[in-house]
Formats: sequence, structure tokens, C-alpha cells
Amino acid sequence: MSKTYKVGVIGVGGIAKTHMPGWNASGISEVVAACDIDRAAVEKFGAEWKVPGLTTDAADLFRNPDIDIIDVCTPNNYHAPLSIAAMEAGKHVICEKPLAPNPTAIRDMIAARDRTGKLLMTAQHFRFRGASKAMKAEIDSGTLGDIYHARSWMLRRAAAPNRPGFIMKKHSSGGPCIDIGVHILDLTLWFMGNPEPHSVTGVARAELAHQPGVFTNIMGGGPIPQEFDVEDFAAAFVRFKNGATLVLEVSWLLHHDTQGEDMQMWLYGTQAGSHWPKGEIYRSNYATRQQYNCALKLMADTLEPHALECVEFVKAVDSGAPSPVPAEQSLQVMSILDGIYRSQVAGKEIVLD
Ligand SMILES: NC(=O)c1ccc[n+]([C@@H]2O[C@H](COP(=O)([O-])OP(=O)(O)OC[C@H]3O[C@@H](n4cnc5c(N)ncnc54)[C@H](O)[C@@H]3O)[C@@H](O)[C@H]2O)c1
Repeated sequence: MSKTYKVGVIGVGGIAKTHMPGWNASGISEVVAACDIDRAAVEKFGAEWKVPGLTTDAADLFRNPDIDIIDVCTPNNYHAPLSIAAMEAGKHVICEKPLAPNPTAIRDMIAARDRTGKLLMTAQHFRFRGASKAMKAEIDSGTLGDIYHARSWMLRRAAAPNRPGFIMKKHSSGGPCIDIGVHILDLTLWFMGNPEPHSVTGVARAELAHQPGVFTNIMGGGPIPQEFDVEDFAAAFVRFKNGATLVLEVSWLLHHDTQGEDMQMWLYGTQAGSHWPKGEIYRSNYATRQQYNCALKLMADTLEPHALECVEFVKAVDSGAPSPVPAEQSLQVMSILDGIYRSQVAGKEIVLD
């Protein structure tokens, strides 16, 4: 019989609430404490989710010997220091994406993980969608052959998150490039088998965010935030050491034909192509001169993916299994995203370390 793992959540905003059904559903975890620098927010969260131990100081959670797992849900720039402190205090850590907003901070987190022997996982919830798990299994069985090119994008139309944790570099380190680029890029690399990136040519600019009126009817509403100092658009061409290539596009604000969000990934291999999230495989039979498409028939997801990732994490803690989303793979992702920013500044291709 497994023990019940005690969880402490840090940062009780929008995303923390999506993790709670997972902690409650796993059968082997229970959220016993929560921390937020905003006292009213943590008290409201405690009342809503029946969490008893409330604090505005994360050190209270680290000092608590009953807590086994820390769930880091703060804005990006606080992920690494809080996760490292938690692991040093003997806690396993699941941390929201991006694991940290630059490769150096992720390397520090990996070093802390290895020093302490704790489990560290990046909360990349798109990996836990049924369409993702089915496509990953299909690709791993060799269906596509060698994947030599990918096209991935996550494009929002008039949907910049108008909150300090996203639009101010001092809290987030960047805009959509690392906020949503991290989602589609993580998924793409995972499907491709996490090939080592070689170089990046990228742009990351704010093209629409400072236009009058642009913030009037989007997420959070209100006037143009004076503090908006991140990009609203990024694009890149990536080369991998195995010869594969990738074209990536992300934006929060783009005059694009979508209601809300357009998130797609096309993979092209030597045996077949594929589309996510449609779950389709594209082939040619040269002998019969026939092109045909196969669709994966997906069963309904049992649990919403933000919740499922928490269940998978605590199951890995309990069984001693490896991290369901290893930090090394997040380091690859962040090296590319960081390369986009470096390429924007340099105005040329960046060869990655
Ligand atoms: N996986 C996803 O789909 C997804 C979606 C949204 C956000 N996120 C990630 O989750 C994180 C939080 O995003 P959110 O939407 O919940 O933001 P949010 O603004 O809704 O909430 C963040 C909370 O953290 C608190 N906070 C800030 N600094 C803190 C600190 N040092 N210690 C304790 N609390 C602190 C804030 O007071 C706020 O309550 C970000 O890293 C973001 O990238 C992931």
C-alpha cells in the first residue's frame, strides 16, 4: 500500500487550480499547504480547495518535514530558485513550464536534482493529451521513418495574457517565444526523439503590442500596459545535429485566421508524414501510385492533461520511475528558445553550445 504524498503548492494563480484535480484524483497525494506572495489570493485558494497550511513565505513549506512534493506554479523567473531550494530541502519538484527562462538556470536545477537525488519534472501538459500519447507511440514504432523536417506553430489572435507575470521581462524573461513556444517546441522535439539542436536563426519582436487599442478586448482587458517589454511574435529556423530541420512560429497577437489559438505540428519522415493534433498519418504507395491518409481513432481522455501530469508525477515518485518529463529535454527546448533571442540581437544564425 503506497503512502499518501503531501504536496505544497507555490503560486496559486490560474495554473495551480488546474493541477488540483490531479492531486485529488491520484489516490496517493494530498495538497496540505499553499504559498503565494499575495495573502488574499492564498486565503481564497485555501478556502476553495480546502488546503489548511497557508503562508506567504515559501520557506515555511521547505521547512515542513511532512511535505514530500513541491508544485511550483509562480511566474517563470521564480521557478529555478524555488525549485532548487525545495530540492535542497529534500522535496521532489514538479515545476511549471518553462522549467526556467534560460539554459543556465536549467543547468543549475539539474545540478541540484543530481546533488539531492530528488525527482524533477517539467509540467508540459500537452504531452499528456490522448492525441499526443497516441501519436508518440505511433512515431516510436517507426511509422514515419527518419523525421527530416518539422513545421510547428502556436499562433494566437488578440490573446496576449495581460498579467505582469507574462508581459514584464522582470517576471517572465520573455513573451510568447518562451510562454507558448515552449509548449509546441517541447512536443515537437519529443515526437522527433529529442535530436540535439545545432543552430538557430530567429526573430523575436513586438510588432502589434504597442498599437493603440490592441489590449482593449483581449485576455485581462484594459489599456496598453506600460510595462509590456517582451516580444509578441517569434519565428525560427532550427538545424539539428542529425541533419533534421524545423520551422517554428509563435505569437500572442497576429492577424491570423483563427478564433483564439491555432496550434499545429507537421512532421515529415522518409516513410510518412503526420499532423498533430488531428492525429493523421500521410503515406504514398509508389507501387500502386496511391496517396492515402490514416487517422488515429482517439479514445476520450480520462483526465484533463494538467491534472494527469500531476498524477503521472506522483506515480513516478512512488514507484521510483524516471521523471515523466526530464529536465534534460527542457534544457534542449530552452537552448533553442534562448537561441532565438540571441539570434534576434545578433541578426544572424547562432550555433548552440
Ligand atoms: N501549462 C500551461 O498550460 C500553463 C498555462 C498558464 C501558465 N503556465 C505557467 O504557470 C506559471 C504561472 O502562470 P499563471 O497563469 O498561474 O499566473 P498567474 O499570474 O495567474 O499566477 C501566478 C501566481 O504566483 C504568485 N507569485 C508570484 N511570485 C511569487 C513568488 N515568488 N512566490 C509565491 N508566489 C508568487 C502571484 O501572486 C500569483 O498568484 C507561469 O510560469 C506560466 O508560464 C502554464
